[in-house]
Amino acid sequence: MLHPRILVAKTADEAGVLAANEFEAVIAKKPAAVIGLATGSTPLPLYRELIAREKAGKIDFSKVRSANLDEYKGLAPTHEQSYRKFMQDNLLDHISIKPENTIVPLGQAEDIQKMCEEYEAKIEEWGGVDCQLLGIGHDGHIGFNEPEDHFPAMTHEVQLTEMTIDANKRFFESIDDVPRAAITMGIGTIMAARKIVMIVTGADKKEILKKTFWGPVDPQVPASILQFHPDVTLICDEAAYPFN
Ligand code: F6R
Repeated sequence: MLHPRILVAKTADEAGVLAANEFEAVIAKKPAAVIGLATGSTPLPLYRELIAREKAGKIDFSKVRSANLDEYKGLAPTHEQSYRKFMQDNLLDHISIKPENTIVPLGQAEDIQKMCEEYEAKIEEWGGVDCQLLGIGHDGHIGFNEPEDHFPAMTHEVQLTEMTIDANKRFFESIDDVPRAAITMGIGTIMAARKIVMIVTGADKKEILKKTFWGPVDPQVPASILQFHPDVTLICDEAAYPFN
């Protein structure tokens, strides 16, 4: 088993700053880097920091390509709760990245299987993901890869668990409005990234973080597969760090 490089920040905001250092370094080395992006609450301090750094002339996103982890099935890209809209609002509209250089799975694709294959092909055409950002769900999910009896390899459709539907209801008017299915990069897609940056913040994530890196590798804790990845930087705040 491999252990991640661990950076412990005082706060979630500081975790965002430390994560921005990782992305800044990747893009400085390779201006046309392919970065894998995530949605949710965890990356928001990072995205704010990346926007500020480009404004300050420290990062240049004009050649960067981005591929997002996941999207709700059935939501239009303009839907308030779609992940495409989240990315536009919280990062992409505020940096110099070219719209054609950003991809998010299409929640409304007629042929989901075909769209998933095209998504994988696009990442491959770009030369693979250089640095993949991850958050983690309370059940250990990464992207929308939920606990299962195996590790799904490629981009695919998933049915969301009750736990995830419940955790995400805060973004919708009612729990009934939360989509029941999503499209996600697979565990194999994620593991193929050359470098992974996982941010974990908040005391409520402490237990799952411990299981992920200090428990057995088990598809019931999808993120535990990261123990097999040779270049994982785990950035957590003091509240989430399991050994305080
Ligand atoms: C979203 C994603 C999810 C989130 C996870 C944690 O693109 O990949 O796996 O990272 O659900 O979400 P937050 O950060 O809201 O706690």
